[in-house]
Amino acid sequence: MVKALLIKQLGPIAENTYVADFPTPSPGEGEVIVKVHAAAINPADWKLAESTASTFHKSFPAPFGFDISGTITEVGPGISGFAVGDEVFGVGQYAFAEFVKAKATRLNKKPSNLSHPQSSTLWVGLATSIAALYSPLGHSFPPPSSNQSFFRPEWLLITGGATSVGLYCIQLAAASGYSVITTASPQHTSLLQQLGALHVIDYHQPRDEVIRQIKEASHNRLSYVIDIVGDTETAVGALSDKPNATLVSITGRSEKVREGVNVKDIQTLNPQIEGFIKELIDGEVVEYLEQGRIQPNNVQIVEGGLEGVKEALRLSKEGNVNASKLVVPLV
Ligand SMILES: NC(=O)c1ccc[n+]([C@@H]2O[C@H](COP(=O)([O-])OP(=O)(O)OC[C@H]3O[C@@H](n4cnc5c(N)ncnc54)[C@H](OP(=O)(O)O)[C@@H]3O)[C@@H](O)[C@H]2O)c1
Repeated sequence: MVKALLIKQLGPIAENTYVADFPTPSPGEGEVIVKVHAAAINPADWKLAESTASTFHKSFPAPFGFDISGTITEVGPGISGFAVGDEVFGVGQYAFAEFVKAKATRLNKKPSNLSHPQSSTLWVGLATSIAALYSPLGHSFPPPSSNQSFFRPEWLLITGGATSVGLYCIQLAAASGYSVITTASPQHTSLLQQLGALHVIDYHQPRDEVIRQIKEASHNRLSYVIDIVGDTETAVGALSDKPNATLVSITGRSEKVREGVNVKDIQTLNPQIEGFIKELIDGEVVEYLEQGRIQPNNVQIVEGGLEGVKEALRLSKEGNVNASKLVVPLV
């Protein structure tokens, strides 16, 4: 048995999660076992555990969580490219446990310059950014390549620049040559500019003023949005009337969209884009991370092991995370 944080039943996480023994995972075809060194928190962890409408967790008690960084301890049949002892990051079939099972297609080798806590912040944020920016389900922008040096005279609005996803999305978009405008609290302005945003607009202002400032910054030529925080009204208000105006949403809240705007809702864990994401992370993205051209999220450590995950989930749910990722070391 291994120790894991388990969901007893769907409902408030504070009352419905507990640490207990869970059967030791064994790898199936295309799977590996990872000893988890650090797990990072995503809003989906508590949203899926609390929503009684969700069908994500099918049987209980259920282990849960996504983002991990650790060491491979066992490989299943059909695995190539990974061996026992490899240090990896990715999403496990669950994350908040001593050992977890993971699909090799959702794992990447850990950048040599990053610690496990830093590396645990990477996968969901990067994969979501890649899905939104480059995948055929998102904007289908040309992916970055290490030998390119060009500037695309195209404006991209990323709402929620200080979210974990936003911090990666800004860096990738800027590395691909797009002119990035983002929304965030003013205390993050210099960080987001340093990561590549040209304009950082305070979203606490009245919506009309936010839209006016985005239009002014983009010379009213904004065609592309990635909406990370569900602020569809701002995004749509700021888009120009160009026929190619496209909004990619990751929150599933894209219903308030005017006619003439192409809308795409994306799910990072869609198996259709799994290979696309892995290839890009294994290639340019890990290279950029190792060169320091992409910075990992700042890490906000929560101690306490698996019990500490409960506290970290509470902090995430209450919005106590700012331009950083909550990470719980598990060894
Ligand atoms: N579709 C998918 O597959 C997928 C994948 C990953 C994430 N998601 C979703 O994406 C969202 C972001 O996740 P995350 O982990 O990146 O978030 P996070 O790091 O927990 O976001 C925290 C940040 O949200 C910012 N924020 C809150 N309201 C905002 C607003 N109205 N405008 C601008 N910024 C705002 C705050 O910024 P300030 O500090 O600047 O105030 C805060 O720093 C979540 O809803 C998550 O469930 C979906």
